[in-house]
Amino acid sequence: MLAWTVDHASPSHLSLREVPDPEPGPHDAVIEVRAFAPNHGDLESLPGTPGGAVPGWDASGVVVAEALDGTGPRLGQAVVSLGADGAWAQRRLVTAESVGIVPAGADLDVASVVPVAATSALRGLRRLGPVLGRRVLVLGGTSAVGLFAVQLAARSGAEVVATTRNPAARERLIELGAHEVVTSPSDLGGDVSGVLDLLGGSHLVRAFARLAPGGTLVALGHAAGEGERFAYGDLFGDAARHDRSLTTFFLGAEVDLGPDMTWLAREIHEGRLDPVVSAVRPWRELPDAFAAGVGRTYGKTVLTVG
Ligand SMILES: NC(=O)c1ccc[n+]([C@@H]2O[C@H](COP(=O)([O-])OP(=O)(O)OC[C@H]3O[C@@H](n4cnc5c(N)ncnc54)[C@H](OP(=O)(O)O)[C@@H]3O)[C@@H](O)[C@H]2O)c1
Repeated sequence: MLAWTVDHASPSHLSLREVPDPEPGPHDAVIEVRAFAPNHGDLESLPGTPGGAVPGWDASGVVVAEALDGTGPRLGQAVVSLGADGAWAQRRLVTAESVGIVPAGADLDVASVVPVAATSALRGLRRLGPVLGRRVLVLGGTSAVGLFAVQLAARSGAEVVATTRNPAARERLIELGAHEVVTSPSDLGGDVSGVLDLLGGSHLVRAFARLAPGGTLVALGHAAGEGERFAYGDLFGDAARHDRSLTTFFLGAEVDLGPDMTWLAREIHEGRLDPVVSAVRPWRELPDAFAAGVGRTYGKTVLTVG
């Protein structure tokens, strides 16, 4: 089969090559990949990935061989799949635990955004507990994860505040459900009950200072690429700052993601969740798509596998 493999001799760290088909174990089904949607993290990890590896966390596709142990998706079923590698290829191994079912007739290109971006937003928000009637800050609202988080938090009844450095992105965030858009957590009037943080660094430190007692900050992303430095007193608890917590998050360690991915694929198909797709391109254009800004432009770029 053809696959994008890591090739450090190439300026993009990638080359499209003929590689052996993946060999399924008894618990593996095989999908023919229809589309994948690269993430900020995929791009960043390429220079440190061993040559010859087939990268890619998320893909959509159709089952062409069922698992021998009888588990997992059925032949011909359309799925979205999550895994630490192997997505940027014509075929990929999947297990019962790593797939969500895509509704019949759904657009498989669009569905490819579900596994990492949408599922991270959903699972990250759940860490905040019930948000109905509460004020929630999505720090990095224009990130791919943030664009889903804004929608899901608003649907859950939160009063959503989103951040962006770009005034031109304000309207899009409001359209997706944000009640308020600010440049920085320091611009917030009043406190928030929860923070979903896609930026890290000094943004995280400033957001933590705006947490109401009992509030949680989920450190999901680190797009700002800088460290966090708390000043003496920032972590004091008193009547106004009691019981605040900061927790880390890794999607790859979350369990039982299948039902959530299935739900997200259905929400997108039935028009209740905007898939925030900004471009759809043939997969042979992957290095050009990266050069054009996958991981830097707003929304997801989808690559379709011919
Ligand atoms: N923990 C996990 O399991 C997990 C899962 C998925 C993603 N992630 C992480 O989550 C983060 C977001 O991923 P993504 O793919 O959604 O990101 P993305 O689409 O590439 O978006 C990054 C956003 O960050 C903002 N930004 C970039 N540099 C910044 C800076 N120096 N200061 C302030 N804002 C800055 C930009 O917003 P503006 O230009 O509008 O300000 C941009 O929209 C990444 O760190 C990624 O690795 C983690």
